[in-house]
Amino acid sequence: MNSISIIGVGTMASALADRALAGGHAVEIIGRDPAKAKQSAAALDGATVGTAGTTPAGDIVILAVPYASAAAVVSQYGDALEGKVVVDITNPITPDAKGFVTPEGSSGAQEIAKAAPAGAHVVKAFNTLFRDVLAAGGPLDVFLAGDDDQAKASVTAFIESLGLTPRDVGDLSMAHWLEGAGLLSVGLARYGVGNLDFSLGVNAR
Ligand SMILES: NC(=O)c1ccc[n+]([C@@H]2O[C@H](COP(=O)([O-])OP(=O)(O)OC[C@H]3O[C@@H](n4cnc5c(N)ncnc54)[C@H](OP(=O)(O)O)[C@@H]3O)[C@@H](O)[C@H]2O)c1
Repeated sequence: MNSISIIGVGTMASALADRALAGGHAVEIIGRDPAKAKQSAAALDGATVGTAGTTPAGDIVILAVPYASAAAVVSQYGDALEGKVVVDITNPITPDAKGFVTPEGSSGAQEIAKAAPAGAHVVKAFNTLFRDVLAAGGPLDVFLAGDDDQAKASVTAFIESLGLTPRDVGDLSMAHWLEGAGLLSVGLARYGVGNLDFSLGVNAR
């Protein structure tokens, strides 16, 4: 069992919290609005409420906020994230879903890592899964990327504990391509598939 903190009280936060609780983890919900965090935790069976800006209880801290806020949120926590595994689930894509808002040659995860203290390890994961697909349960592939082997091992074990299959794609520079897979998913939802009820995965022979 891990202790997981989730920053954000939106749709991805609740889907991840639900699955983490079902996987036997202790889950802490942290919102910038304490009333919303309390309400969100109350709707989940067994989650606790944390205080924004202070040291999260979890060893794994999932950043479930929009990309536009993510680096600022990480900066706000600052040294409180020292030693934590920070999971970046964001999709830093333009409003027309045709490109990225990140600097050329970088990725959302790498920009977030720049804002994190040196002792925190950012792992990109879960960004290719639509909220309702994640919430529906069942086996899914979860792509992840990160520079620190121990942090990736910790996220890998967490993913497995949710009944999901971790698919490591390499170091954090590969996060750009996972964010591309997020963009690809939006394109498929709009065109080739026509809805959000699907996931990308590996078909191994
Ligand atoms: N939805 C999906 O299917 C999906 C799939 C894969 C990845 N993602 C990614 O997951 C992340 C969350 O998406 P979502 O759909 O859960 O969004 P959402 O429902 O809009 O929730 C976003 C949450 O972020 C919080 N937030 C925003 N700015 C903040 C700040 N400066 N400080 C603290 N909290 C802040 C909001 O707090 P308030 O409630 O107080 O406004 C809200 O709780 C995004 O980065 C998105 O790209 C989403």
